[in-house]
Amino acid sequence: MLARGEFHRTSLDDGVEVWVTQMGSMMNMNTAFINRATGTVALVDPYDAKGWLSGLAAEGLTPTHILLTHTHRDHTVGVKRLVRSVPDLEVWGHEESVSSSLLGLVLFKKIELTHSWSHEAHTSVEWSSGGIELTVTHSPGHAPGHVTLHGHGIYHAGDLLFTAKSGRVDLPGGDSVTQWHSISHARGLLQTLPPEWRLIPGHRYEWIDGTTPDWVTIEQALAHNHALNATELEEFDALPFLRFDD
Ligand SMILES: [Fe+2]
Repeated sequence: MLARGEFHRTSLDDGVEVWVTQMGSMMNMNTAFINRATGTVALVDPYDAKGWLSGLAAEGLTPTHILLTHTHRDHTVGVKRLVRSVPDLEVWGHEESVSSSLLGLVLFKKIELTHSWSHEAHTSVEWSSGGIELTVTHSPGHAPGHVTLHGHGIYHAGDLLFTAKSGRVDLPGGDSVTQWHSISHARGLLQTLPPEWRLIPGHRYEWIDGTTPDWVTIEQALAHNHALNATELEEFDALPFLRFDD
């Protein structure tokens, strides 16, 4: 289990490195996709800007992109400082994640995206830069404009899915039926990915055996995640964690 701010690093045959860490009091999970040959460093939902900047600097690296699953405050804590510290840093998110109609100002952070995705719910687009190639799937329900990102052995689920559960639906802009459709779509998508890939949850919460692993494999999630296994809307909507646990 990762200590707060500790980086787990994997080097892949395709030249991409994946760093995973957990940061903050709610055990937010962050992923970085790194290509040293091109100097590309894409951070997903960076929490602790200082931690990321110093961890990367120790390896001679600088962030080049921020990719946001959604704009809840706990997923965007590090954005402001990173933008201040790194000129030309690109900040990506779905355009619906920063809709001006969002009322939950306590919950959502006002983020200036430099680039945005605009695809329909339950569709995907490809994102690539400097040898990093990710598929971005629009998966609303927990929050408007929520996306998941997968590639290079990782499915970064944000608050769509935790290891055993899913993100809550009772916050402003959340919707249970929409979340169920997003999870149904994710089930089909996960079934097409290599079973040994890691599902990185938005938060490191309890797994089915009471432990709190940093991630589970896609195979484990498909077999045991309660939301992924609720195939009827009624069953999904009755899950006890949808309305308080996040
Ligand atoms: Fe969230």
